[in-house]
Parts: sequence; C-alpha cells; structure tokens
Amino acid sequence: MIESLGTPPVADHAKAPTWRHRHLLDVDQLDHAEIERCLGLAIEMRSLRDRGERLDLLRSQIVGLAFAEASTRTRVSFEVAAAALGAQVVDLPIEASSVTKGESLIDTLRTLERTGVGTIVLRHAASGAPYLAARSVGARVVNAGDGTHAHPTQALLDALTLRDALGTLEGKRVAIVGDIGHSRVARSNIHLLTALGATVRLVGPPAWVRGFEDWPGVSISHELEEGLRDADAVMALRVQLERDAGGGVPTLREYTARWGLDEERMALAARDAPLLHPGPTNEGVEITPELAASPRSLIGRQVSNGVAVRMAVLALLAS
Ligand code: CP
Repeated sequence: MIESLGTPPVADHAKAPTWRHRHLLDVDQLDHAEIERCLGLAIEMRSLRDRGERLDLLRSQIVGLAFAEASTRTRVSFEVAAAALGAQVVDLPIEASSVTKGESLIDTLRTLERTGVGTIVLRHAASGAPYLAARSVGARVVNAGDGTHAHPTQALLDALTLRDALGTLEGKRVAIVGDIGHSRVARSNIHLLTALGATVRLVGPPAWVRGFEDWPGVSISHELEEGLRDADAVMALRVQLERDAGGGVPTLREYTARWGLDEERMALAARDAPLLHPGPTNEGVEITPELAASPRSLIGRQVSNGVAVRMAVLALLAS
C-alpha cells in the first residue's frame, strides 16, 4: 500500500490527494485533506515500523540535515525517518560547516544541493530562514523549526499524539501553557489544532501571551486554574531561556510558583486529560519531574510519533 503513494489504498485518509507542495514551511500551507493525508500516512508508517518492515520509498535519494540550532528530537527523528525510507542521510551541523569561515547559509545549502541532496531539513534561529532557503535552492526544504515562527512537524506529531489519546480533536479544548510568545511550537499548533476542530486556550503571564487575541478559535487566560479547568488536553511549553523568556516574568521561581504544572494542578483538567510537552523539558520549572513521568504524560509518545510523522512528510514531499 505504502509503496504506491499515488494509487488508491483502502484507508479513507489515503483517498485524499497527495501533497501539491515542494516544501513544508509551516502547517498553514496545508489544507484539511493534506493534513489528514499526512496523519493517516504517519499511522501507516508507524504500523510498518512496529512490524519491523522496511520501506524503500526514498531509495537513491539524499536527505541533508542542516541544523543551525541545537536539537535532539527533531534532528535524530528526521535522520531515523529518512534512513527508514531508504534514503542516504548527510548531517551537516551548521556550526561545524564553512559558515564559520564566512560562507553564507544559502551558499552552504546550494553546496549541499550540488552534491546531490534533494531534500534539506533546516533548523535555524532566524524566523523565516527556511522561506529564504526555499526561494534560493532547487532542493525541497523542510522547516525543522525557525526562530519563534514555526515548527510544522512538531505540530503534526502533536496532533497525531492527541488524536491517539482523544480519538478526535473536533470540539476538544486544548490548553497551551507557558512561554507562548517565543514558541514556534505554539504558533504551528494553534494553526493545526484549530484547523482540526479544537479550541485552544493560551495560558500564561500577560507578557507571554500577547498578540494572539484575534486568532480564531483561541482564548487567553492569565490564570492557570481558569485555563486548566476542564481542558481535554494540556500542552506545557519550555521556558525558552535562550530567547530571553525570563524577561517576561519577575523570576523563574515566581513563574514556577504561579504557572508551573504539577499533578495537583493537572487535576483541574478533564479526567485523564493527557499532558504533552514538545521537549526538551526544564523539569522543576514548567513541569515537575513527577508529572513528566506520570501516566498522563505523553512526552515519550510524542517523540516516537515524531519518526512516523517525519517519514510521512518526507515521503509526501518526494511523491
Ligand atoms: N521539540 C523539539 O523541537 O525538540 P529538539 O529541539 O530536541 O529537536
């Protein structure tokens, strides 16, 4: 079934068209059918991996990882995903590239392309860098997180994880708690979760939730208890100290005292409401270690779903 992406398999999602996109820059470029296509294909990829089957959809293709910012989950899961599809992977950490000798990012990506790399997975601290890359190189570009702007594959894996837990996102209330202003994860999730029928509550200190007042399907709460009450799912975000997030609150200790999530506070959410966190976590700051390890926590599931989602994205862009 997977080997013939363009032919009609049995699952409903696969009746949707294949992607018409050359690049994945953010989830807002995907229509509803394309989102379903990706999530459905990710489920198929996950089943195949669970059965230990291999795929060769990207045989003889080269996927380049160009990460100009720290990453564990995204970088490793893209590498595993590309290899699972039969691709050769070239991993070029930008801090170890000739960028350090003065070469531009675009010349670096063009160099990758000239060596045969057909898909570039780019993470960069500058919002918009993948858009510039997509305009400047012939290779396909996947945004693996750009500044505070977007992280589309994270949002897709979060949606898959939430659907695993809740069945559907239609009519569900998802509370996103914490450093939303600096969060590319929050931005992409707001687009995707509302597109899939959820409403999103942004919960955090006023300085961290500004600018979202007019987003459709979004409400804002500056009180943690109000924001958590009856939420069907809760997503905690990392306090992004490297982006000066600490500036939005008096001290981290005060943030933790007022906004930090623990098992007692999570009890305000709907019974058995799952907890997500994109990782990496600052345990003891935005969530307690006990909550991160509790049965509500889907943090590990998010990571493993990341491989399946990234397999689906790479396959759809190449199809
Ligand atoms: N969630 C996420 O993007 O994690 P990494 O920074 O470890 O890739």
